[in-house]
Amino acid sequence: MPNSESRFRLCMGTLEGKVILVTGASRGIGLAIAKTLGQEGARLILVARNRRPLGQAVAQVPGTVMSAATDVTKPGDVKRLFAAVKKRIGRLDVLINNAGVFTYKPFRKTTLEDWRRNLETNLTSIFLTTQAALPLLKRSCGDVVNILSISSRVAFPNCSAYTASKFGALGLTDVLRRELRAQSIRVTAILPGMTNTRMKKEFDFPLHGQDLVQPEDVAAAVISALVQPRRATMEEILVMPSRGAVGAGE
Ligand SMILES: NC(=O)c1ccc[n+]([C@@H]2O[C@H](COP(=O)([O-])OP(=O)(O)OC[C@H]3O[C@@H](n4cnc5c(N)ncnc54)[C@H](OP(=O)(O)O)[C@@H]3O)[C@@H](O)[C@H]2O)c1
Repeated sequence: MPNSESRFRLCMGTLEGKVILVTGASRGIGLAIAKTLGQEGARLILVARNRRPLGQAVAQVPGTVMSAATDVTKPGDVKRLFAAVKKRIGRLDVLINNAGVFTYKPFRKTTLEDWRRNLETNLTSIFLTTQAALPLLKRSCGDVVNILSISSRVAFPNCSAYTASKFGALGLTDVLRRELRAQSIRVTAILPGMTNTRMKKEFDFPLHGQDLVQPEDVAAAVISALVQPRRATMEEILVMPSRGAVGAGE
C-alpha cells in the first residue's frame, strides 16, 4: 500500500493527453479555459446548454474529443453526460465547474426565480457534476477546479442570490478538498473579480472591458493550479482587476 507521499508521486504528469471536462465552455471564461488547455495538449469535453454556441466553441478549441448540450442543473442531463463520458472515453482527469449565472438586483426586487436560478446553476450544479464525476476521477489522480468568485468571500450590495450561491459553493469546495484528499484528488477554488465577459451586461452601470480581468487571465490561473507537482495544491486563487473591485457599489 503506497503511503500518501508516494501516492501523489505516482500521479506526476503534464496536461498533455489529460481528459478535462469544462462546464459553461461555450463562451467567456469557460471558453478561454478550454482553448488554453487545448493548446497545452489536453483532450477537452465541452459542456453548455445551447447547441449552436457550443458547436462554435468546438470549432475554436483544439483537442476537443466530445461536446454535450447539457443543463448542469438537471440531474437527468448530468447523469446522461457522465454515462456518455464513461462509454466514449472511459476516464476523466479534471472536472472544471465553471457554468454560472449572475443577477444584479436589490434584494427586495430579487424574485424566487432569480434566487433559484443562481442557487441551482452556481451551487447545486457543483453537487450534481462532482458526484457524477467521482467514479471516473477515482481511477486517475484527478483534479476538481471550481470557478467561484470574489463574491464567495465579499458581500457586494445588489448581489444577494449570486453571493449566497458563491459563498455556498466555496464552503462545498472546502469540504470536497478535505474529503477527496484520501483519493489523491486535488480541489482548487478560483475566485475571479469582475471579468470581461457577457456577464458584465447584467450590471446597471457601464464597465470598460480593459479595466477588468480578461477570461485568459482566469485560464492562466487554472493552468497554474493544474501543473503544480501533485504534492502541492493551489487551494484558492483570487484574480482581481489591478485597479481593484471595479464599480462594486460599496
Ligand atoms: N464575468 C465575471 O465578472 C465573473 C466574475 C467572477 C466569477 N465569474 C464566474 O465565472 C463563471 C463563468 O462566467 P462568465 O463570465 O464566463 O459567464 P458567461 O459568459 O455568461 O458564460 C456562462 C457559460 O455557462 C453556461 N451555462 C449557464 N447556465 C448553464 C447551465 N444551467 N448548464 C450548463 N451550462 C450553463 C453558458 O452557456 P449556455 O447559456 O448555452 O448554457 C455559458 O457557456 C461563472 O461561474 C461566474 O459566476 C464570472
